[in-house]
Amino acid sequence: MINRQFERVSSGMLLNGMYLDSDLFYLVEGKPVLLCHGTVIDASVLERLRDISKQNVEIYIEEGSYQRLLRQHEYVARINHYIAKSYDLARQKMTDFLRDTAYQNRVNQEAMVRLVSLTQNTLDIMKPYFLLQLGTYMSDMDDLLQTHSVDVAILNGVIGRWLGLSEDKIEKLLTIGLLHDIGKLRIPERILNKPGRLTKEEFDVVKRHPVYSYDMLKNSGFQDEEVLQGVKYHHERISGGGYPEGLVLDHIPKMAKITAISDIYDAMISKRVYKESATPLKVLDSFYRDQFSDLDPRIVNLFLEQMIRELQGKVVILSTGEVGTISYIEKTRIEYPMVEIDGKVEQTDGNRYVVSVCGEIV
Ligand SMILES: [Fe+2]
Ligand SMILES: [Fe+2]
Repeated sequence: MINRQFERVSSGMLLNGMYLDSDLFYLVEGKPVLLCHGTVIDASVLERLRDISKQNVEIYIEEGSYQRLLRQHEYVARINHYIAKSYDLARQKMTDFLRDTAYQNRVNQEAMVRLVSLTQNTLDIMKPYFLLQLGTYMSDMDDLLQTHSVDVAILNGVIGRWLGLSEDKIEKLLTIGLLHDIGKLRIPERILNKPGRLTKEEFDVVKRHPVYSYDMLKNSGFQDEEVLQGVKYHHERISGGGYPEGLVLDHIPKMAKITAISDIYDAMISKRVYKESATPLKVLDSFYRDQFSDLDPRIVNLFLEQMIRELQGKVVILSTGEVGTISYIEKTRIEYPMVEIDGKVEQTDGNRYVVSVCGEIV
């Protein structure tokens, strides 16, 4: 029997980015079966809940947590709905585009132009804080290439705007983002999706993909050198340790450097290991610490500074299930900002930390 300390949770109540601070469970013959606990709601959690609700079972949570969920829902629903819809549409269209490209073994330029303009729409309404949450929109079932390509395009666009580039250049950056990994369609799936470490030989095969992308675009009639170079050199590193040519410093074209930043940052927010153990602010922090020597430090710095500026005053969800707003972030301590909770400014720490960034108070 369920006693009165529990509340029923309807499936529409839980949204990407919300946080469960106690057990979410359902009942089988009166016995509770745990669904999840202490987790950020992401696409995988939502998928599991959809499966469960198909069996007509009811889902419950502790009453106190339910109240906190209600409060979270109020913010997350209002802010994310609009952006998430546009982002989902772009990802859907990218799936169709990749399927057609694989089938025809060439890139249809008109379809690409339509996809760029769709991504541009998403970019126009995208709030940069939402970039920190992209990982929660990916499920284990998702095709990594489609999600990743759209993410990198949007990140490229946001960085391009922060750099004050013209709209023409932004369009090129979006195109590069969408197409940079298209050459992966030529890499055997058993290597691309191999769980665990690749052998040296397998990694050598993977390393061919930027050149495959470049060749495919050339063969499909792409002529814009900036786009072609951006695609070809997105794995070059300023230290010279990248591929395919081991270019150093400013020998790497600017658009390739920007794409490298978007590429690495997206890999970090999407990776399971990061999603499970890290918060969006922790990822931002490690990105800053780990990548400085390999990426253009000027752009990495700008990325971080703009992101910090963007985060000021934003509504966040804490590991206690509470909702607060960021009042101050120290660059050297991004993971633990000062947060205002119920009118009191408090220092967050390892026991009470930001798990999700859900936007502004409307
Ligand atoms: Fe790549
Ligand atoms: Fe990539």
